Amino acid sequence: MDPRSRTLNPGRTRNAPSHDEATTGPVGRAPGAWPVLGHTAPLLRRPLHFVTSLAGHGDVVRLQLGALPFYALTHPKLVQHVLVDGARDFTRGRLFEKASLFLGEGLAASSGKVHRRARRALQPAFHHQHLPAYTDLMLQAAESVVTPWRPGRVIAVDRAMNDLSLGVLANTLLPTGLDTHARTEFHQALPVLTRGMMVRILLPEWWARVPVASNRRFDRARRTMDRVIGEAIAAHRRSGRDRGDMLSLLLMQRDAEGRGLTDQQVHDHVTSLAVAGVETTAATLAWFFHELGRHREIEERVHAEVDTVLGGRPPRLEDLPALAFTSRVIMETLRRYPPWMITRRATAPARLGTVTVPGGAEILYSPYALHHDPRWFRDPQRFDPDRWLPDRAREVPKGAFIPFGSGGYKCIGDTFALAEMAVVAATVCRRWRLRPVPGKRIRRVARGNIHPDRLPMVAEAR
Ligand code: HEM
Repeated sequence: MDPRSRTLNPGRTRNAPSHDEATTGPVGRAPGAWPVLGHTAPLLRRPLHFVTSLAGHGDVVRLQLGALPFYALTHPKLVQHVLVDGARDFTRGRLFEKASLFLGEGLAASSGKVHRRARRALQPAFHHQHLPAYTDLMLQAAESVVTPWRPGRVIAVDRAMNDLSLGVLANTLLPTGLDTHARTEFHQALPVLTRGMMVRILLPEWWARVPVASNRRFDRARRTMDRVIGEAIAAHRRSGRDRGDMLSLLLMQRDAEGRGLTDQQVHDHVTSLAVAGVETTAATLAWFFHELGRHREIEERVHAEVDTVLGGRPPRLEDLPALAFTSRVIMETLRRYPPWMITRRATAPARLGTVTVPGGAEILYSPYALHHDPRWFRDPQRFDPDRWLPDRAREVPKGAFIPFGSGGYKCIGDTFALAEMAVVAATVCRRWRLRPVPGKRIRRVARGNIHPDRLPMVAEAR
């Protein structure tokens, strides 16, 4: 019997059958371990297949990554417990510990007290009062990427979205006064740093010391980022002026005792935001256009909505709530292409459903696997934006849809990212239809998020 069918109750709701109890029973075991490497080999070879297969072995599944045991959670109720209800008993775990070698005390890699302090420091930069100014910068970046497009030209949509997302973040983070050369250096160094970091997180530590070209590129990119951010901080300290960017907000902050952040803390936050915020948004946008290209009827509905709401002018922040169908397409894109693996660590023995894991246990969960589990999403491989109509969306159990995570470590940039994606979608769709290149198969690559291997599309003027 398929273990999933134990909780299936298709008559109850359309999307979400019974989800009130985690399955009872002993911890499941993932099959297919290799000698020495354990499950690292199947995880790296077919990551998305591997993480989705785990639900077939129970709600808590033990696997082995190298010498280290991990417990994978496949039930939203358990994920919700670890991220929200019982979060105080868990830190971020291995993935983030390794990331902190590069991100220092930056928000995206820290845990516990250091994390709470960092979150307090960064929260004001994401206050909704800044969203109108950020939306203007998003629009400028989107316009500058699409303006050179010509009808019939093949656009590397993955690269275009990456440039765009980088432009948005650089413009919101760094002072407008920063010279163009420094900006270009920042643009070039960030993707090298982000990708190299992911490789270093997954591979053993000795890999970083091997004198290969990719490691030299990584070290150079890191030095460049450090220098550019250092120069931006120094320039701000000299002028002392608030230029309305996130860096100024961070540098001008004072706690109750009047203490500000150190240059190192500001540096770590800026790196952290750039690493966490650029490729995630860029990949989601690339998939958005890929899915429109594959589903003509969905594309037509988006275009019709954009035409009605905007009437031919560029989008503004106030337009975004009226772009309801476009937002559902974005939600569905986030369901299909979210982060695929996130870790936590139990600080003491922890009860997860009927299983108790030991203190120090490494926990793993996959938003991708949860989003593709037929217990929570009917026909999960189908791209169906209308599953996010309010009545249907209510049927999705808590913890089953978590593209931005949940609880205290939830993405601080979620509203920012949603606004950016809606502005870019509307700016492109207002004037362009992006068609797939015939015969070109697009492959999914699982890094932090899931990226297209490349995404050439033909631009047709509307
Ligand atoms: C589609 C776009 C995005 C996705 C799918 C995404 C996803 C996530 C997820 C799943 C987490 C939680 C990690 C955990 O539980 O440990 C996270 C955290 C974070 N994200 Fe995002 N993110 C996106 C965009 C952004 C943007 C635009 C920014 C910044 C401008 C950003 C900055 C961060 C930061 C700083 C954290 C750490 C938060 C904390 O630890 O308190 N993200 N993101």
